[in-house]
Amino acid sequence: MRIGVVGTGYVGLVVGTCLAENGNTVVCVDNDETKVTALRRGEVPIYEPGLDEMISRNVAEERLSFSTDLPAAVRASEILFIAVGTPQGEDGSADMTHVLKVAEGIGRAMNGYKIVVNKSTVPVGTARRVRDVITKLTTHPVAVVSNPEFLKEGAAVDDFLKPDRVVIGTDDPRAEQAMRELYSPFVRTGNPVLVMDLASAELTKYAANAMLASRISFMNEIANLCDRVGADVGEVRKGIGTDSRIGSSFLFPGIGYGGSCFPKDVKALLLVGQAAGMPLHVVAAVDRVNEAQRVVLVPRIEAHLGGLRGKVVGVWGLAFKPRTDDLREAPALAVIEALLARGASVRAYDPKAMGAARRVLGDRVTFCHRSYEAAEGADALVLATEWNEFREPDFERIRTLMRHPAIFDGRNIYNPHHLREMGFHYEGVGRR
Ligand SMILES: NC(=O)c1ccc[n+]([C@@H]2O[C@H](COP(=O)([O-])OP(=O)(O)OC[C@H]3O[C@@H](n4cnc5c(N)ncnc54)[C@H](O)[C@@H]3O)[C@@H](O)[C@H]2O)c1
Repeated sequence: MRIGVVGTGYVGLVVGTCLAENGNTVVCVDNDETKVTALRRGEVPIYEPGLDEMISRNVAEERLSFSTDLPAAVRASEILFIAVGTPQGEDGSADMTHVLKVAEGIGRAMNGYKIVVNKSTVPVGTARRVRDVITKLTTHPVAVVSNPEFLKEGAAVDDFLKPDRVVIGTDDPRAEQAMRELYSPFVRTGNPVLVMDLASAELTKYAANAMLASRISFMNEIANLCDRVGADVGEVRKGIGTDSRIGSSFLFPGIGYGGSCFPKDVKALLLVGQAAGMPLHVVAAVDRVNEAQRVVLVPRIEAHLGGLRGKVVGVWGLAFKPRTDDLREAPALAVIEALLARGASVRAYDPKAMGAARRVLGDRVTFCHRSYEAAEGADALVLATEWNEFREPDFERIRTLMRHPAIFDGRNIYNPHHLREMGFHYEGVGRR
């Protein structure tokens, strides 16, 4: 099929490339000229495992191209994906400016029947808004489909190629047939394609993210309680995760969730509830717990060091999670801001997110070229993102590099007893 994907970010680039990988002809459109020029030169603007090779292969086979020309992409495509950002607006709701602008661009360039697919995460009712915008600008028929994306950054290619399920919201049988066909190569092993009405599909995405975020915030609250009552959250986690009704995933406590999705989608869902006259109390608590959790270690570092003014803190990991360079809403940033506000200086290192971090933090932080450099002269080392390379470091070396050997493990990856035996002060989240 001939596909246009509008928005060439973490989602659009993966979606476009994976669809090309299955033989479709795909043009990825973005209004960021620098990005498109870089992609045309073969430079991939984001870090996502496996994506570079797949892009070059499909570009070489002339199935994948990049453009800033939306009207040309509309005219050339049977199916158009909208995969632009839906960032948090000022009131917390999803900002639909980009989505509606693209809808307008599509409406103006229509030259026949098109299927327009909302891939962006959007509030209930957006598909109808998109359809209204387009139909005001053209007499050509259009079907608007909601097809939320569930990929995880860091494993996005795999997730898209082997989805747990595909959700398709539509009331147009022709569009349903085309979407089923498009996704058939990805669900050969029998994973379901769930076709439903538009509102249900739109709400499914927010409900999925809010559910996952709830598990994290719930476990973080239990971890904080463990700290107070002398229990170990690792034991509690195993104790509940082995219950088949609960399951073990997304129960790892730490310094909270971040990223481009959970924080904004939880907030946007709250606003969807409010607009429907239905306050969502559980979801509100999930958000509140997470806001506090991101900086839960900071007062503990301060207490341990007897104040932070003039102290040096090393921070390992800046991306919101391992295997991505995405820094949006990263808990590490909240930690760093809180440390700086209390007068500490920060030495930071991340395997992939240093470029993005420099743009966000400027010269307020010392950026280190290697992980161990961040520990040099430090009074405390905070593990904020659990990259593999931080899992088994040379602790002897770290101890000799630090001015004061204290490790604050925001992801509970180290063995507390082992580190204490080595002479470190160790604190995790909810651990004995
Ligand atoms: N990142 C994820 O893990 C993830 C997962 C599932 C769903 N989503 C959702 O997918 C959507 C996209 O997320 P993302 O992380 O890829 O965002 P992103 O910010 O990485 O990419 C968005 C892209 O859209 C482009 N863009 C904006 N306005 C445009 C316009 N008018 N015309 C053409 N291009 C335009 C931007 O230049 C940017 O390259 C969001 O709604 C997000 O919530 C994201």
